[in-house]
Amino acid sequence: MRILITGICGFAGSTVARGLVESWPGVELFGIENFSRAGSELNRRELPALGIKLFHGDIRVPSDLAALPKVDWVIDAAANPSVLAGVDGASSSRQVVEHNLLGTVNLLEFCRAHGAGFILLSTSRVYSIPALSALPLETRDQAFQLAPGGPLPAGVNAEGITESFSTAPPVSLYGSTKLASEQLALEYGESFGFAVWINRCGVLAGAGQFGRADQGIFSFWIHSHRRRRPLKFIGFEGRGFQVRDCLHPRDLVPLLIRQMREAPAGRQPVQNVSGGRRNSMSLAQLHAWCDARFGPCPVQADAAPRRFDLPWVVLDSSLARKQWEWEPTTTLEAVLTDARSGADRNCGARRGAPRLARDFRRMTDSVHASPRNRSLRLLSVIIPARDEAGCIAAASRVPMAQKSSGFGAGGGPTFRALRVDVRKSECNESQDCHYTEESGGGPARQNGPDRARTHGLYRNRGRACGEVPGNRTDDHGPGGRAPAN
Ligand SMILES: NC(=O)c1ccc[n+]([C@@H]2O[C@H](COP(=O)([O-])OP(=O)(O)OC[C@H]3O[C@@H](n4cnc5c(N)ncnc54)[C@H](O)[C@@H]3O)[C@@H](O)[C@H]2O)c1
Repeated sequence: MRILITGICGFAGSTVARGLVESWPGVELFGIENFSRAGSELNRRELPALGIKLFHGDIRVPSDLAALPKVDWVIDAAANPSVLAGVDGASSSRQVVEHNLLGTVNLLEFCRAHGAGFILLSTSRVYSIPALSALPLETRDQAFQLAPGGPLPAGVNAEGITESFSTAPPVSLYGSTKLASEQLALEYGESFGFAVWINRCGVLAGAGQFGRADQGIFSFWIHSHRRRRPLKFIGFEGRGFQVRDCLHPRDLVPLLIRQMREAPAGRQPVQNVSGGRRNSMSLAQLHAWCDARFGPCPVQADAAPRRFDLPWVVLDSSLARKQWEWEPTTTLEAVLTDARSGADRNCGARRGAPRLARDFRRMTDSVHASPRNRSLRLLSVIIPARDEAGCIAAASRVPMAQKSSGFGAGGGPTFRALRVDVRKSECNESQDCHYTEESGGGPARQNGPDRARTHGLYRNRGRACGEVPGNRTDDHGPGGRAPAN
């Protein structure tokens, strides 16, 4: 079986890829990834080492897909997965539609051309926000719960929200790109005779996330608490009673294998695939879990409602259980513990100053190998020193080159020099890393994202990648479809 996973270096894509390699002897895996997720670079070497063929490309670009080999199945795990995507100012609405919907259309055309089956990792965010906000709830154990006894709206039962729950807008821009992707996938499958499975996931969590808010609340809270970042209960009177369920993406693997191996046999193509009631908790409960492990951490209350936030989202996955005998096997405690181990790894001072300095030196050496980059010099790297909790307590500046050594001085060649401040990289050197560029011997100027495109060293919109640059300097544009392995 030959399988293409899109967004393979992201959290779900990489976890599923590892799981498939482990549990399916003989499977051939291919991946396409544009490395727009900070941290995805960390999987860039690891996945090829498992025998996976990785292509650096973008699903928005049809010619990137045209370079991919023929496969039997496509698992679509590439997206901008934030519910605030397109409305928070971090990404444009057009970009969200291009990544999440037009990217899917390109993949469906790819499936049509190759006769490949298609599996979409969709989301609980396809369900109607007003309908979810109107669920009858009560408060128990610092958490919202469905109020017992009273009538429940159509599509909800004591186990959670079912596939027949309303998907009427608004569902967020993110939710609607996924809902439209679902609809188009079903239509393409029907029209061109290929199998389509839609798996609507609740929150995914585990090691391999970077604690970004757009990666899901569980990982975000654990990472933030671990690093002693300021925490806030936002909305719902600032009490943190909002509830989510969570799923470890490795639990998807047995389901995906059955979906790819077995004939449709009258099964419903759209199903919830989520942690469910047993794997659900409120933010306040999650905070208490973190307090017990990392020591108490103050949390502020901010009662102002946040856009698209919901009081209670727990999916009922009984259709998946019925159709595929699928159940999440990773308990809530195990999911949280795994996410915690990821936070420990990210936050721990695993990479000491000398090693980091060596890495950056290697990066600059490689950049200098290109004549057009001869004038680029790394001046210093600011290395964080961490306290026992792994949080940055101090920082030291490590000089990397003497500015005076023949660059820019005395009418010499124009130079560009970088100062990299790893403190801004949030405990992980492949995340956002702000830097200052100097040129022509003049004063330093703060550099912005677009400058990253002028050379290959700092890609991903100003994020420093722990990787020697290739010849592709713009990760967000089209082209560049050479395999990364
Ligand atoms: N994280 C969650 O809680 C959650 C919940 C429900 C559904 N999902 C869905 O699961 C899927 C994977 O989510 P995730 O949490 O792994 O997110 P992620 O951000 O960790 O992974 C997505 C990956 O796709 C890549 N990517 C984005 N746009 C691309 C493009 N145009 N071309 C190629 N690669 C691209 C990113 O670089 C990233 O590595 C998404 O479709 C998301 O909608 C996630």
